[in-house]
This record gives sequence, C-alpha cells and structure tokens, in this order.
Amino acid sequence: MAQTFETVGVVGLGTMGAGIAEVFARSGRRVIGVEADDAALERGRGHLERSTGRAVAKGKLTEDAQREILGRVTLTTSRADLADADLVIEAIPEIMEFKRVLFADLDRVCKPSAVLATNTSSLSVTAIAAGTSRPGRVIGMHFFNPAPVMKLVEVIHTVVTDDGLADDIAALARSLGKTPITAGDRAGFVVNRLLLGYLNHACALLEAGVAGRDDIDAAMKLGVGLPMGPFTLLDLIGLDTSYEVCEVLFRETRDRRHAPAPVLRELVTAGLLGRKTGRGFYSYGEAAPATPEARQAASVSTVGIVGGGPEAATLATAVERAGFKPVVAESADLTPVGDADVVLALSDRPVVELAVRLPHPERLAGLHLVGDEVAEVASTVLTSPETTAAVHDLVQILDRTPVMCGDRAEFVVNALLYAYLNDAVRMLESGYASAGDIDTGMRLGCGYPAGPLEMLDAIGLEAVRDGLRALYAEYREPAFAPVPLLDQLVTAGVRSIREYAG
Ligand code: CAA
Repeated sequence: MAQTFETVGVVGLGTMGAGIAEVFARSGRRVIGVEADDAALERGRGHLERSTGRAVAKGKLTEDAQREILGRVTLTTSRADLADADLVIEAIPEIMEFKRVLFADLDRVCKPSAVLATNTSSLSVTAIAAGTSRPGRVIGMHFFNPAPVMKLVEVIHTVVTDDGLADDIAALARSLGKTPITAGDRAGFVVNRLLLGYLNHACALLEAGVAGRDDIDAAMKLGVGLPMGPFTLLDLIGLDTSYEVCEVLFRETRDRRHAPAPVLRELVTAGLLGRKTGRGFYSYGEAAPATPEARQAASVSTVGIVGGGPEAATLATAVERAGFKPVVAESADLTPVGDADVVLALSDRPVVELAVRLPHPERLAGLHLVGDEVAEVASTVLTSPETTAAVHDLVQILDRTPVMCGDRAEFVVNALLYAYLNDAVRMLESGYASAGDIDTGMRLGCGYPAGPLEMLDAIGLEAVRDGLRALYAEYREPAFAPVPLLDQLVTAGVRSIREYAG
C-alpha cells in the first residue's frame, strides 16, 4: 500500500522551504520546520505568516483556517525533533557539501523507514543519496517558486531508488493538489535544464548590449505571454540559486550557454540576490518609474515601409490612421522609400544590408511585430539617435510596446524563444522526458501559457528551424544549430512535433 507520510519535516525555511512547509500544512499534515538558529527560524516564521496572511487578505483563507495551518507547523532548531518524521524534505542552499553533511545527519536522526527527499534544483540526487546508509529511500521532490502557487513537482529517482518509491512520492504530490512529473537524475532535471538555459541566454544578450533589462523583460512577457520576463524571474528564483544551477548544468553539459553569465557572478558577489535581499536586477520597494507618455514622433511626416504581404499593408494602414504618410517598397527596389523621414524594414533578420542601399541609411530601423502588443525596433550601427527615438514614439502611437534592440539575427524574442524550443527538442530527442512531460513541466512549473513543443507546433517547425539556422549563422553557437530531429521532421514534411512524438 502507498505510504501516506503523515508527519513531514522540512529543513531550511527560506522562500522555498517555508512554501513547502505551507503546502504540507495546508494538506492537513503535521509539519516540523527546522532551521539552523533562532534568527533563521524567525525569518521562516515570517515567511509562513506573510504567505498565509496574503491569502487571508485576499479572502481566500479565513483567520481560523490560517491559525489551524500555522498550528500544524512546529518550528525548531533541533534536527533530533525529526526522529518521528515519515518524510523529510531538505531546502537548504544549493551547495553539495552542505547537503551531504545534512543528509548524513538526517540519516542518523531519522527512523529507518523515513524517506529523505531533496528539493535541489539541479544537484545530483544520486550523489546526495550515496552519502547515506539508505540510498534507496532518498529521492528528489522538486517544488517551484512560489511553492504554494506553482502546480508542478518534479519527482527525481536515481538508479538505486527503491521500487515503488517514486510512485508513492508522485501520489503524495497529487494529494497536495500538485501535478508530478517523474524523471531520472540529470542536471537541471526537466524544467531547470530548459529554463536556466533561457534565463542565462537573456543575461548574455544583456551583456552583449543587444537590448536592455526592461526591453528584454517586456519582450518575453508581452511578446510571448510568459508570466514574467527573464530578469524579473531571475530575481524571484534568487540570483545565487540561478548561478548555482547554471554551474551544475555547465559541469554536466560543458555547453558554454550554461556557464553562468558574468553579470550573475557580479550581482551575487555584491550580495544582490534578487527579491529576497531587496535588490537584484531590479530594486524592490521603490516606486516604479513613470512610463513616459507617447509623444508625437517629432519631425516625421513620411514613413517608409520595406516589406510585402498583409503585414506591410496592415502597418501602412495603421501608420496612415496615426496621421503619417506611408510609402511602401515591396520589392528589392527601395526607391519608393528613399526620401521618407524614417524607414521601417519589416524583418527579424539584420537590416543593415538594406540600410546601406538607401540614400539616407541613418533613417532606417528594423521593425519586428511580435503578437499584438510588442514591436521590436532594431537600430543598426548607421541608425541615427533621432530615427531610433522617432521609431520608438511611432510604435507607441501604434499602441504597441517598443522593444529597443541591436541589429542581430532574430532580435530578442525569437533569439531567446527559438534557442529554448531547440533545447526542448534536444531533450525529447535524448529520450530523457516525453513530449507530454516537457510541456507539462514548463506550463505548470513556470506558468507558461503553453509548453515548448506546443509553442513549436503553433509557430511552425520550418519557421523555427530557419530561425535557428539564422541564429547559428550569426552567433556560431553550436547549440543554436537546429537539432537533427527538428531538421529531419521539416525535411520529411512532418508538420507537428506532438503528432510525431504523441
Ligand atoms: N506565496 C504565496 N502565494 C503567492 C505568492 C507567494 N510568494 N506570490 C503570489 N501568490 C499568489 C497570490 O496570492 C495569488 O493567489 P490567488 O490567485 O489565490 O489570489 C496568485 O499567486 C497570483 O498572484 P498575483 O496576482 O499577486 O500575481 P501574479 O498574477 O503576477 O502571479 C506568480 C504571480 C504566480 C508568481 C506569476 O507571476 C508566475 O507564475 N510567475 C512565474 C513563476 C515561475 O516561473 N516560477 C518557477 C521558477 S523556477 C523554480 O522555482 C525552480 C527552481 O528550482 C529554480
């Protein structure tokens, strides 16, 4: 019969540990929360009170129910209090040496039947298990931040996990109202393997000056519909955790895209760890700067548009409605737009080659419409600051959020998105996780509107494959080359990866 785990210990009551303790207490279980010292214990108590208090304030929980939940949690600084626990979950910092020492201690303190679980985001569960006398009863149970909200739990088994234990832990996750996915022990598991590659890539674009923090965040939130942009999310996860996960990924993959971006190292060294310290990529607790009002694009009357098809026609109509005179160059002949005050080249590929063919190259910027809300504005090395400013304003007048970026293949959105989609196909191709688990992982672990393979199908395999080729040609990054499976599906005329993979 499946174990029910009535008494659960949680070691480490930071953001994740406190969230996990809350989830178990809400399910009616008795929880023993352990911290290293009184000060840390008080911080843990604060997390629990604030998180449940937020639910009370929103009318989602009564004060009585809050008292009951908190009443099920015993807080202590003594690991010996875990002697009766059926399950202990560790949520201490992502440092293997700390975990090994802790698990050796838990192994000594806890009853032999107890299951010892780690909430590690990426470290080897096998290595943690091997340091105990009960490796068969050590498992990964990985929650997502904020634990009370995110529905996913990754259950990570090793080659020595007892038969049936992963199923029992998956059943436990379901009893908490979560959706489990079960996978073997690889760096980053399913979600962080895909997520941190993308977040670190965003840092690389920032460092290369392709676009700024706010532009990249707006691009991914408003352009792709993700709940948060990459820098907001890095701050939520914690830059120290993000850094450590990247390190672990890099050690396993030797893929330099996983090597933590220098800006992460710098911020972590400076103690700027994100939300939990009040400052990371953003500062918290300060009033947000006012969004500048859309201005009339000064001194622009004629807007040239380079591009064909319905997108150019729609843009021309919108430009006209906004009070400007559109002129369109649909073909290779750019003469019609030669004298326009600004020239918008509809593209997501570098546009400088168009600029050099114009009499006024400084008047051209690339424009990539993303969804209904965003327009990427790519300035070339020849674009004048006046043109950049005018196109920025024009995009606002057209009721879109401008994302200002450099003239690089796939600009911002597709550069980040396509590389991430390629990684998802790579994971599928490797056999590590099924298409269903990959999509469920990203939807429920990160709140994405769709999983990567679903997104790939919606965009179209060929468009993504071609975009990846362009990315590879620009950056010469091996991991941007389309993975063979994607290339072959396109060549074979298969239109949907979900249809191929089930
Ligand atoms: N604790 C408890 N509850 C919280 C919370 C917290 N820290 N933050 C938000 N909530 C609750 C709110 O109370 C609210 O609940 P109701 O719907 O019941 O009212 C709900 O979540 C939505 O919150 P808000 O309306 O305040 O804000 P939002 O709509 O912007 O949602 C969010 C906030 C849920 C965090 C959302 O932005 C989101 O899904 N972001 C993505 C988070 C993500 O990707 N997490 C995974 C990180 S990776 C990770 O954790 C793995 C790792 O190992 C590194």
